[in-house]
Amino acid sequence: MLRRLYHDQPETFAFTPDNLKWAEAQMKKFPEGRQASAIIPILWRAQEQEGWLSRPAIEHVAAMLDLAFIRALEVASFYFMFQLQPVGSVAHIQVCGTLSCMICGAEDLIGVCKDKIADQAHALSADGKFSWEEVECLGSCAIGALAQIGKDYYEDLTVERLAEIIDELAAGRVPTPGPQNGRFAAEPLEGLTSLKEYDSGKMKHNASVQLATDIGDTIKRIDGTEVPLLTPWIKDGQQAEPNGKKKAEPKPAADKPVDLTGVTKQEAVAKSKAKPKGKSNPDPVIESQPETLAGPREGGADDLKKISGVGPKLEGVLNELGFWHYDQIAKWTAEEIAWVDSRLKFKGRIARDNWMAQAADLAKDR
Ligand code: FES
Repeated sequence: MLRRLYHDQPETFAFTPDNLKWAEAQMKKFPEGRQASAIIPILWRAQEQEGWLSRPAIEHVAAMLDLAFIRALEVASFYFMFQLQPVGSVAHIQVCGTLSCMICGAEDLIGVCKDKIADQAHALSADGKFSWEEVECLGSCAIGALAQIGKDYYEDLTVERLAEIIDELAAGRVPTPGPQNGRFAAEPLEGLTSLKEYDSGKMKHNASVQLATDIGDTIKRIDGTEVPLLTPWIKDGQQAEPNGKKKAEPKPAADKPVDLTGVTKQEAVAKSKAKPKGKSNPDPVIESQPETLAGPREGGADDLKKISGVGPKLEGVLNELGFWHYDQIAKWTAEEIAWVDSRLKFKGRIARDNWMAQAADLAKDR
């Protein structure tokens, strides 16, 4: 299937403050210089916020991660979970059309979607509330036919039941996910043939359905207010305040021991800064400023974004530092790389992506 950007794009995209805070916390999960690894969760959050991924949203995420737009677009267009066109404001219905579900009536379910939503997949219903698509195996083949609606599965679907579910959603109700024919989980339709002593009657729902019911976010979009829940790697005292700043650590009095060792905080800090006996500190990195220019030469600046790893934001930083041309970058020495590196947000990127070799090749092709 051809996955292209939608023909009608919004002008801009910006994360809500809560979502921005969450996205920045995702970036901190990765070592310095590897922030691009956060691209999937951050694109996903952009989609959660808007319902789909617009070009400005992909550009915004690329700029946050210092990636060229094309690299973010490659990710967004590769994974089918990313919607590149608007979806229904209430729900996007994903009907599994793979073998097991097809045998169990998936084609008829698609017929319901065509009747009640729109003739074509990825088109909006007349009221804008719904959209649908056929997807590959959802991994729940034993309980087909099924559809994923929002974050949950509706299994053992019949034509009548899917039509009812769409009507209920349209009326503002969220039907309980899971098997829709009274089956508990993936046991045989005729009843258990083994593990008969297991009595599922003690539980109302299987674990997945129970969790879906407890969380209650089947068709709710994540809005970023789940920050403390979703950033457990950031310790409590370091969670950002609502204004985005870190909480200040309480300062002990100068002469007050901080623990049972009797060492004051100030002594501990001084000790940790002292040169360890018998061991030499690692050699300091020697920096040397490369040749810079006040502006591009006659003929205009080179497109530094052609260097893999340089996005529009990074290009701006390089220009500010005085780098406008491939040949300037191609001749950086190790000391000069260290100088530039220490002025970029993500250290180590220059060597990793070998900007010098790339720039030398680009300079030849000019
Ligand atoms: Fe439908 Fe696997 S075939 S879930």
